[in-house]
This record gives sequence, C-alpha cells and structure tokens, in this order.
Amino acid sequence: MPGVKVSVLLPAAGSGERIGRGPKAFLEVGGKTLLDWALEGFAWADELVVALPPGRNLDVPGIKTVWGGKTRQQSVFNLVQAATGEVVLVHDVARPFVVRAAVERLLDAVRGSGAATLAVPVPDTLVQEASGEYGAVIPREHYRLVQTPQGFRRELLWNAHQKALAEGLEFTDDAQLVRWQGYPVALVEGDRRMFKITYPEDLLLAEGLAQVWSSSPRPR
Ligand code: CTP
Ligand code: MG
Repeated sequence: MPGVKVSVLLPAAGSGERIGRGPKAFLEVGGKTLLDWALEGFAWADELVVALPPGRNLDVPGIKTVWGGKTRQQSVFNLVQAATGEVVLVHDVARPFVVRAAVERLLDAVRGSGAATLAVPVPDTLVQEASGEYGAVIPREHYRLVQTPQGFRRELLWNAHQKALAEGLEFTDDAQLVRWQGYPVALVEGDRRMFKITYPEDLLLAEGLAQVWSSSPRPR
C-alpha cells in the first residue's frame, strides 16, 4: 500500500491451554518459534507491535512490545493503543505461515473500504448437533471460516475497541467488533495454509508445512 503506513499487530499473549505446553507463541515449529515465523512473515511492515504474555520479553531491535491482557480483545486493545500506522493489520501469532499474496489482497480491500478480513470456504459438511445426533444441515456455501490478518483503518478499530470496553463486551475477533459498530467488513479470499494452530495435532501439520516453506525460497 504505497504511501500509507501499515502497522502489523501481533497478539501473542495467549496461554495455549488447548495445546497445554505453555504460551503458544513460544512453541517451536521447523526450529523457530511461532512468534519468529510471524515476525519474519511481516518483516516488510512499517511497524510491528507484539503483545506478550506476563513475564516474557522480546529483545528484537525495532519491534515494539506491549503486555497482553486476560483476553485476546484486551491484548489487541493494548496493541492498537500503541500503534501509529494509518492502517493496522491484526494477525494471530498462532497462524505462523503468512501467505504474502493473501495479505496483498487484504491490503487492497482495506485501502478500498477501510475494513476487511481474510476468510476461507467451509470444506466439510456443516451440521447442527442436537443432543449427540445429526441435526439440521447448514448450507455451507453461505458460510466462511474467518482467518487473520484482519485489516482496518486504525481510527476505526480504535474507536470500536474503546466502545466495546466501555460497554463491557468481548468479541473473539476484531471484524466482529467493527461490524458491531455498524461498519461493513469486506470478506477477502484467504489461504488454507494460514490455518490456526489450536490443538496438539495442528503442530504436526505445521511441521510438514514448515519443511515446504524452508525448502523453497518463496513458496508464497
Ligand atoms: N491471545 C492474546 N491474548 C490473550 C489470548 C489470546 O494475545 N489473552 C492471542 C494468542 O496468543 C493467539 C491469538 O490471540 O495468537 C489467538 O488465540 P488462540 O489461538 O485462542 O491462542 P491461546 O489463547 O493461546 O490458546 P487457548 O485458547 O488454547 O488457550
Ligand atoms: Mg484462546
């Protein structure tokens, strides 16, 4: 996005409870921490800000840090407060593989509309669970799985965060917060390689992908 300063905000303060091996950002995949993967993937950004879990430090020159909060939303609040770019991209460190082409698509959309997120189609049949039984089938073509990064004009995201804090509302991502404020959020085609590491078995997938990433100079 020529001429517009872009800050990349990395919430890395989660405790990684579902994997159960400590803060996820510091788990290693392909010999590097998830945080290092994300920092490398966004090395082009004008500004990088990382939200850290309590007691963790990051001594990388040129990278700003803030403390994370109890929830993801609180961590992102602290990140947006510290950011100075006109546009901010919020990206979960739990998604180590950053596909540059998808990020470029997202930036184009943010330039056009002020708010956008990456999202991918639902690959499986989607069904309601009703007391352990197969319930109504949801028409999956009308649904998307939401990824990060999500991009916004900084002022827009900052206002939404301040209002949510004032009202005591918590959302699981930033697109919801902005949409709650009545502002439309564009859906941009994501990339399945940008999946979120959530459960222990996701680390196996990530190890496989890490090999591809390291063996070909610019696979993305
Ligand atoms: N995150 C954060 N601050 C929190 C909670 C989450 O910065 N208080 C970040 C995580 O570090 C991660 C992203 O938000 O990069 C998405 O969160 P998730 O995948 O849920 O990670 P964890 O919260 O660490 O995992 P779990 O929910 O299993 O504890
Ligand atoms: Mg979590």
